[in-house]
Amino acid sequence: MLHLFALCLLVSTNDVLVSAQAVPQTIQLQSRIAPAAATLRRRALNPVTVPLADFFLGTDLQWFGNITVGTPPQNVSVVFDTGSSTLEFASTLCATCSNQVQFDSKKSSTFVDGGDTSTITFSTGVGVDPVVGDNYQLTLRSGTDTVAVGGLSAPATDLFLITKQTAKFDINPFSGIQGMSARAQGFFAGLVQQGLPSLFSLYVTPKAVGNAELTIGGIDTTKFKGALTYASIPADAGDTWSLESPQLSVNGKTTSVLKAKRNIIFDSGTSNVLFPTATANAIYALISEKITPHTAEPGTYGIACDLISTLPAVIDIEFTAQDGSPFNLTIPSSELSVGPFTADPTVCQTLINAFDGLSLVGGRSEPDFLASGSDSYWHIRSLFKHYYSVWDVSKQRIGFAAV
Ligand SMILES: *[C@@H]1O[C@H](CO)[C@@H](O)[C@H](O)[C@H]1NC(C)=O
Ligand SMILES: *[C@@H]1O[C@H](CO)[C@@H](O)[C@H](O)[C@H]1NC(C)=O
Ligand SMILES: *[C@@H]1O[C@H](CO)[C@@H](O)[C@H](O)[C@H]1NC(C)=O
Repeated sequence: MLHLFALCLLVSTNDVLVSAQAVPQTIQLQSRIAPAAATLRRRALNPVTVPLADFFLGTDLQWFGNITVGTPPQNVSVVFDTGSSTLEFASTLCATCSNQVQFDSKKSSTFVDGGDTSTITFSTGVGVDPVVGDNYQLTLRSGTDTVAVGGLSAPATDLFLITKQTAKFDINPFSGIQGMSARAQGFFAGLVQQGLPSLFSLYVTPKAVGNAELTIGGIDTTKFKGALTYASIPADAGDTWSLESPQLSVNGKTTSVLKAKRNIIFDSGTSNVLFPTATANAIYALISEKITPHTAEPGTYGIACDLISTLPAVIDIEFTAQDGSPFNLTIPSSELSVGPFTADPTVCQTLINAFDGLSLVGGRSEPDFLASGSDSYWHIRSLFKHYYSVWDVSKQRIGFAAV
């Protein structure tokens, strides 16, 4: 397997713990809740910012930060995952979670056992670390407890304790996953009920830059210059963060395949960038004919490492702003290589993997438009390192500003 660790779409997790509590910080808000009527004495909560750490294995994979669970609070580190909607993390009930910090529900006076068990199997790892059978599977037990992030606390929040995980999760430096889907759920819904604006913002940086952060309930305007451009997520997107794109261009050129409309899903919880095979082939054809499928790991592509650094590979993905005007998000050439294949170190893996449809084995349904196979699934790494992003749940839109 190579450098990338695949997490998943719709939930999931792993473990570890820890945590320093971030110092709550007041951030200038772009959108504020309308002042409450005099009869409504509720005060809006101020936004908070929590620092994020970079899970780096030769390339930036995922960003994770600390939350606390229970009373007294126990530290749990999680990936804030825009591709899922629930919270799950390693627990002391999990004999196979010994690499991660484990939450002990017996030590929390506010924990309530829900008693439901379920399993989730992740299926977006194709190619990077191919998911076969139950390679990536978690067994979960439901419950509720107080969950706090950056000092803001939501009581009786739904969560899942991981009671068993397959060995593929051992490598993760974090304990779990906090879903941050396009519908406020879990602790976020709890905070919104308390008056926090229903949006969050991500500043995910390359490891060398550092200072990555998540702002919950606001926008940290110190992290970007210029204006944010907002695009609306489709009405039928469910709780999935996605945008419709009318066309892709590579090095300023497009083709009939790349001009097709597609939904692009933005998922911070996976390290994969996935396109249907025909699209991946069309993109690579505009970069270099020397980029070829790496058959040892189906779905991946590679090229001799000594060729990759000189290849122009600018990928422009067009979207439509709320005012109707087109704008591009651009992946620079520097993102093309994700590093050498472990088993074949003279060959470097390229950014995009081929994947013709998602099929979740583990019981959670996927949005209809995902099942069509005509869509694309994006890990946040390649694109969002270059943009500050605002995930506006209340207005069902995503905002971008170049950093
Ligand atoms: C999480 O908390 C631990 C201490 O419990 C700290 O060492 C670590 O740096 C924190 N991580 C982040 C991303 O803040
Ligand atoms: C959780 O993290 C905070 C901040 O790093 C630290 O002060 C506290 O001791 C940690 N708690 C536990 C139980 O490890
Ligand atoms: C997006 O990029 C393509 C390719 O470089 C270019 O042709 C197009 O004009 C750009 N669109 C906008 C709105 O800048």
